[in-house]
Amino acid sequence: MIHIVVVGILVIVFAVLTYVGVNSVDLMPVQASAQAVPIDWMWNWQVIAISFLFALIMVPIFYSMIVFRRKKGDTSDAEHIEGNTPLEIAWTVVPLIIVVAFAYMGAYSLGESRRITDTNAMVVKVKAQQFSWTYEYPQGFASSELHLPVWKQVILKMEAVDVIHSFWVPEFRVKQDVVPGRVTEYRITPMLEGAYKVRCAELCGSNHAFMEGPVIVSSQADYDTWVAEQIEIASAATPEGRGRKLVTENGCLGCHSITPQPGPSAPSWFGLFGSQVTLADGSTVTADEAFITESILDPAVKEVEGYSPTVMKPFTFTTEELADIIAYIKSLK
Ligand code: CUA
Repeated sequence: MIHIVVVGILVIVFAVLTYVGVNSVDLMPVQASAQAVPIDWMWNWQVIAISFLFALIMVPIFYSMIVFRRKKGDTSDAEHIEGNTPLEIAWTVVPLIIVVAFAYMGAYSLGESRRITDTNAMVVKVKAQQFSWTYEYPQGFASSELHLPVWKQVILKMEAVDVIHSFWVPEFRVKQDVVPGRVTEYRITPMLEGAYKVRCAELCGSNHAFMEGPVIVSSQADYDTWVAEQIEIASAATPEGRGRKLVTENGCLGCHSITPQPGPSAPSWFGLFGSQVTLADGSTVTADEAFITESILDPAVKEVEGYSPTVMKPFTFTTEELADIIAYIKSLK
């Protein structure tokens, strides 16, 4: 009897230590959406159950190994045990109750994370393609950044151009596949202002790991300012304005960058025009209209040093569109 009491106390102590230890390593990023609350609630109960079960298995094993160790020279058999009905009923019924409870919690969390709290929620169309995210806003412009006002429910209607991707902002917790030929929905209510990242969570090709994009949650006022700016840029009837729109809509900025830093998986366009580009064979070429046009229509012809040409698929544009894109690239300096 004394052994059971000691083991019982040790199990509780060890379970608490395990729970505190697991929680001290910051398993989850900040909780940035209303949908994250029921998910984290369920997750926390799972960690409690896991900590307890871990202690319940480990403590008796180590306790038995130390306290009931075979004495030197003792070759007798251990005591034969003929079953214990109350114990067997207990270890069948208790886990059953726990599993049913978790099934209920899972169903409840799923329901909560999909709950419609705003029947007039803003709809943003999401286009996923290898290897970028593009968003079409109800105000009629597209962007490679997802901007959301805080505390407003938004529906993302998501479509994939090529293969299966998965939309995942860890701070929002909810994850949704994006499938070609089908529109999947993702309902989210951001509740914490900040800059996050969407990551593709479905292996979709060689640059899957770099398929990321900025997600910015801001006040309604900041969001409105950003929207007004975007509308102005999108309506700009200059060649650079049209070029910017084209590269945004086609997801180019998922891989390329427009800052001096190289993009996630492709060269930067900043200061590119007129510069000397080193190719994989060591030769150099001037980044003029001809080179940029060829690199868009047939990226595999001239392989830029340090980048695999097979990552980028050939694009098709009209001569006017190409001129607009080149005008935009020229403006980046
Ligand atoms: Cu898209 Cu992985």
